[in-house]
Amino acid sequence: MCGIVGITGNKPVADILINGLKRLEYRGYDSSGIAVSNGGLNIFKAKGKISELENVTRGENLEGLTGIAHTRWATHGPPNVINAHPHCDGNCDVVIVHNGIIENFTALKTRLAASGHEFISDTDSEVLAHLISEYYEGCLEDTVRKILHLVEGTYGLAVMHADEPEKIVAARLGSPLVVGLGEECNYLASDVAAILGETKRVLYLKDGDVAVLTPDGVDVTSIDNVPLSREINEINWDLDQIQKGGYPHFMLKEIFEQPKTIRDSFRGRILPELGDMKLDGLEMSDTELREIKRIVILACGTSWHAALLGEYLIEEHAGIPVEVEYASEFRYRSPVIEPGTVCFVISQSGETLDTLEAMREARRRGAKVLGLTNVVGSTIARESDAGIYIHAGPEIGVASTKAFTSQVTILLLLTVLLARRRNMSLVRGQRIIKELELIPEKINKILEQSDKILEIAKVYKDVANFLYLGRGYNFPIALEGALKLKEISYIHAEGYPAAEMKHGPIALIDPDMPVLVISTSDGSYQKIKGNVQEVKAREGKIISIVSEGEKEISEMSDHVIEIPESLNMLTPLLAVIPLQLLSYHIALLRGENVDQPRNLAKSVTVE
Ligand code: M6R
Repeated sequence: MCGIVGITGNKPVADILINGLKRLEYRGYDSSGIAVSNGGLNIFKAKGKISELENVTRGENLEGLTGIAHTRWATHGPPNVINAHPHCDGNCDVVIVHNGIIENFTALKTRLAASGHEFISDTDSEVLAHLISEYYEGCLEDTVRKILHLVEGTYGLAVMHADEPEKIVAARLGSPLVVGLGEECNYLASDVAAILGETKRVLYLKDGDVAVLTPDGVDVTSIDNVPLSREINEINWDLDQIQKGGYPHFMLKEIFEQPKTIRDSFRGRILPELGDMKLDGLEMSDTELREIKRIVILACGTSWHAALLGEYLIEEHAGIPVEVEYASEFRYRSPVIEPGTVCFVISQSGETLDTLEAMREARRRGAKVLGLTNVVGSTIARESDAGIYIHAGPEIGVASTKAFTSQVTILLLLTVLLARRRNMSLVRGQRIIKELELIPEKINKILEQSDKILEIAKVYKDVANFLYLGRGYNFPIALEGALKLKEISYIHAEGYPAAEMKHGPIALIDPDMPVLVISTSDGSYQKIKGNVQEVKAREGKIISIVSEGEKEISEMSDHVIEIPESLNMLTPLLAVIPLQLLSYHIALLRGENVDQPRNLAKSVTVE
């Protein structure tokens, strides 16, 4: 999604702004631009990659100590130079960058056009620059506060005015903004990654906040000009963690990091001798945990797949009814929340708009809301009643990999925590923890098969369709495998519960149709063998993920990837790894941009 960077201070800003934009590239974008104050407001924009913006600005005068910059992910109007941000008013006195959507922009535009304003872009955002220019009377923050009362929609907004060259005014409603504090230099960004190289002291703006940044300081008020104080946070991520560390792509780095990130997720939270878990972040007593009557889990995309696995785990081991909902559906229907319902909200970014709004809806309906997020200080993390950080570290690749396995790890911990307060025995709890501690090493063994998976990828790189089948705990993994493949390789892929195949998808099976079957040795093994036979009988190609030493399915398969044995409930953490690698290799062989697939954004902050 769109990204914002802003700086005002005592040093030239152009390079820092462009570097900041580069750190936001992973969020997905299709054009970019920069505005620097030097005598007037100088604006440069380019379609495509940030390297295009660098080409456009080469040799231009971009000296200046205050500036704002933007990466745009098109919503209103195609990706081109005119629609790229920053946008300005007719005289270029006001310049803005904007994330979000102005829902009443047509009405505002009509009104402004009637009083002589000329618009040049297709965007909703341009109207903000004209509105500010229309109402400006010498104080930018007063004007911004005034016009925000006229605006409907969502915004993360940064504004400059030629008459107040050292000032940036920012405002937030529904689209994240973070302010970085430096020495005689202050920063603004839509994502802390953009300014991490400059400062680690930040404050997060809340919805309804208006911030004024100058080299001397930062003031925050409400849009009604009530002074507000916002807590200063220290970021503990390093710049190294958001760089590739020798891997050709972030996605590959993140796949290979999983032995570590899974360990980071359970470190300090497992109690091996007690066969129990310690999840202090939930802020719930044993009695409160025992009183949970029903759980609703809200999420989107990959996080939804983790949630589905959470349902299977919690219902089987803790016996609590669980419902998993797409956040976008939950927020617009009339969900029933009974007393005793706890709502878990899963989001890597903690900024997904549908998930955030679904969480707010759940709270309005009386549920306690608990966040499972990765990004510290994200909106979901801050707005939830309590929650658990998954500790996967910054995930830059748009296709989620390590965040998924960390989400699943946390759901496993949660399952044991809930189950031990019900019927799970001490011995069972101890056994699960022992097996969980072995998972990172087992993942290393799977990662060693990357070259073998590359060979399989070479065989199937040109197919048009792929089917992924799994049963039980491996069904959410089939969904996740299919999503990974389609989002980075653009091959159409579907995940199905294996038994559902005969209710429709079996019609697609022919010698050109690869079917990936996850058939680890659990209770459903015998059944899935039957499903593999059904594919074989129709000459479909079979790639199977099996437990080490498995014979029967392996003999029916065209390609076999073995994974180490584990408890059934832990197997998904292993089974997903070869699927991530297969997608990565296929996408790369097809020449696709695996880290920034087309049309996708890392953090989906629009509906
Ligand atoms: O940040 P979130 O976990 O809330 O994101 C949800 C989805 O947008 C995300 O998982 C998406 O499906 C990924 N591209 C999957 O790889």
